[in-house]
Amino acid sequence: MNPAQRAAELFRASFASAPAAIASAPGRVNLIGEHVDYHGGHVLPAATLERTAVAVGPGGGRLRAVSERAERLEADWPPVRSGRWSDYPAGVGALMRGDSAVLADGLAVAVASDVPLGMGLSSSAALEVATAAAIAAWAGTRRSERDLAEIGWRAENEFVGMPCGLMDQIASALGPAGSALLLDCRSLEMHPVPVGVDLVLVDSGEPRGLRDSRYGERRREGAEALALLRPEFPALLCLVDLPPARLGTILRRLPAPLDRRVKHVVNENQRTVLAARALEAGDHAVFGTLVNASHNSLRDLYECSTPRLDAIVAAARAVPRVLGARLVGAGWGGSVLVVTEPGAGGMVGDRLRADEALALPQVRLVRPGAGVRVEAS
Ligand code: GLA
Repeated sequence: MNPAQRAAELFRASFASAPAAIASAPGRVNLIGEHVDYHGGHVLPAATLERTAVAVGPGGGRLRAVSERAERLEADWPPVRSGRWSDYPAGVGALMRGDSAVLADGLAVAVASDVPLGMGLSSSAALEVATAAAIAAWAGTRRSERDLAEIGWRAENEFVGMPCGLMDQIASALGPAGSALLLDCRSLEMHPVPVGVDLVLVDSGEPRGLRDSRYGERRREGAEALALLRPEFPALLCLVDLPPARLGTILRRLPAPLDRRVKHVVNENQRTVLAARALEAGDHAVFGTLVNASHNSLRDLYECSTPRLDAIVAAARAVPRVLGARLVGAGWGGSVLVVTEPGAGGMVGDRLRADEALALPQVRLVRPGAGVRVEAS
């Protein structure tokens, strides 16, 4: 059964009624453009084939949440942050309460998902965007995919309390079928980019306990750098607007580690645009070189890698037919993305799985899927 069918069954079994609507949304894998979305830069994510489905209906005055892979939860309505998994659908529901009368009587959600957890595929964005689409379908309100992404992003920032950029939710809502999406995170201009290469995702198995606090620290460092550069560039809104040709001089004026952070952001933004062009031109070797440069910059300048992620990247780069490898997502644990020549992903995945020294918990091929859709209403 697909996730939508499973979510419908779970809803019926848990709440003794049929769901009012069901929607599904994918996770995302970011090909390149890491830690630039919240600086208004370019990113190149693809939606995953694996999807999360959310079935919704009236909650009888409460928040009621069930999931195939987490504990069943019940709480007051309107909801407040609980620190549990239900914060994702609850945050979306709280933001959409004004949309229509349907949410006056609480919210029941049933979640079924094929998006692997903890692999850096943004299962949270999939859950938020699918919930928003299901509630909009139930309420009969027209919401664009971009609106759904924004609701998911606001739920994550304002309700869950994770100050993420917009990339994950946009990819989950608007990922073009079978392609990656070159997204300018400031103008929100976007266009599909053919992938052409194979993508292998390698789970490091490292706990990501420090991730949220370090992510917040990087965001504060970015704001600090902007404030220090403002006297010289009064119109500067985003770090990616710094003129690359003058970057050397500009960086000399910033204290460490802000100089390293800014250098990563400006260069990574440029790499992403070049990487999209390389894929469009079918120039896979150039794409791989940019992927490698992205990891080196995340490791040395943004300092969000770990020794284990570096070891996995080094091992992957030594496998024949690998074009490039880098940490993917926020870093500080999580996964490595290995890019291979077309058709070589299966072989490369087998080689990495067989590496006893690395003892990798999970290695899988990822293929581009498509953005959010309503499954039933
Ligand atoms: C996390 C965030 C994204 C993005 C990446 C780093 O996945 O949710 O918004 O900032 O980290 O590129």
